[in-house]
Amino acid sequence: MTIYAHITGWGMSLPDKILTNDEMATFVDTNDKWIRERTGIESRRIASDEDTTASLGAEAALKALEMANLNPHDVDLVIVSTSSPEHIFPSTASLVQDRIGAINAGAFDLLAACTGFIYALNLATQNIRSGSIQNAVVIGSETLSRLIDWTDRTTCILFGDGAGAFVLQANETPGGVISSILRSDGSGGDLLSVPAGGSKLPASMDTIQAGKHFVQMNGREVFRFATRVMARASQEAMEKADWNVDDVSLIIPHQANLRIIDAAARGLKLPLDRFAINVQKYGNTSTASIPLATIEAFEEGRLQPNDKIIMVGFGAGLTWGAVAAIWSGPLPTEKPVNFTAQRLLAAIRSRILRLYRRIEGFIWGRGKSA
Ligand code: COA
Repeated sequence: MTIYAHITGWGMSLPDKILTNDEMATFVDTNDKWIRERTGIESRRIASDEDTTASLGAEAALKALEMANLNPHDVDLVIVSTSSPEHIFPSTASLVQDRIGAINAGAFDLLAACTGFIYALNLATQNIRSGSIQNAVVIGSETLSRLIDWTDRTTCILFGDGAGAFVLQANETPGGVISSILRSDGSGGDLLSVPAGGSKLPASMDTIQAGKHFVQMNGREVFRFATRVMARASQEAMEKADWNVDDVSLIIPHQANLRIIDAAARGLKLPLDRFAINVQKYGNTSTASIPLATIEAFEEGRLQPNDKIIMVGFGAGLTWGAVAAIWSGPLPTEKPVNFTAQRLLAAIRSRILRLYRRIEGFIWGRGKSA
């Protein structure tokens, strides 16, 4: 019996604050015309002090679970792909697992930069198709605005914050994620990086003064790399799925730059209207960009059940990859899950566990010193 991994729920979460190009031009030497012409970006969302990578990711995940009508207790795996994790550890995925009340799930972060969502989809799919798990939540979540040097016009104009999530579920009906290709070329690691804050260059006065905790990028080289790999990766995923380009209803590319998407369209000899594009509204939201563009395409009526789609990304690492999938939608379920109660339960449960741990620690500590 073959098991397939269907995309049965999706949700997104965006910070309220919209930062337009014109507003940006008031504090950094740039202008709306340059940004639009070179990137296609018109505005981006910026996380408030209350928003974190876990809070945005959890909100997107809860919406996705609600759409799939899947009880968080039935989730087996939570993967957060992110380039802006809350900490080196604990993983942002564990924080999300706690917030959504996925009490029976394993959780981990996946770092493949802007290609992360593609890698995470592949991983969740392999787990489901092998029969090892039934249900996974795959989240791309970012607060990259916190890793940006807001005086560096070559990077700060590009990035934005947000989160998107998919629920993947096992089902015997053919469909869901059909094929994927994952690639990496670490020889280009220096082209796009946050150099400090890891074990090679731990935080110090020197690293802070040198701005090494901010995103650094060789824009032209990244541009050249991206335009080389996007069409090729899409083509390879199609070949692996035994599809040709005419079978595909929609290509959902990583939203980094409209000119890069345009180059991919020319590489695939497809008109731009076969692509999902929302880079103008959100800029480059790294791992969140593919789920955000997919969900908006669905909301615009551009995705129907059984449509064949390609999701394709690239990013730091260097990494790139593509997924060929058949769009599904929620599986039939018997009993509606009460998500208001689930949200409340998850919050109460998390508080009780923390309190219990403190009381237990106090009692254990007293016993030891006595
Ligand atoms: N506003 C105004 N002028 C700017 C500017 C800005 N924000 N940023 C750069 N410039 C200037 C440069 O200083 C340069 O001026 P000069 O000709 O007087 O030296 C000129 O614009 C052209 O700069 P260049 O870097 O050649 O521009 P570009 O056409 O390559 O566009 C990027 C720059 C960053 C938009 C483009 O290279 C890019 O999108 N690269 C890919 C980045 C990416 O996708 N990263 C994420 C990967 S996941």
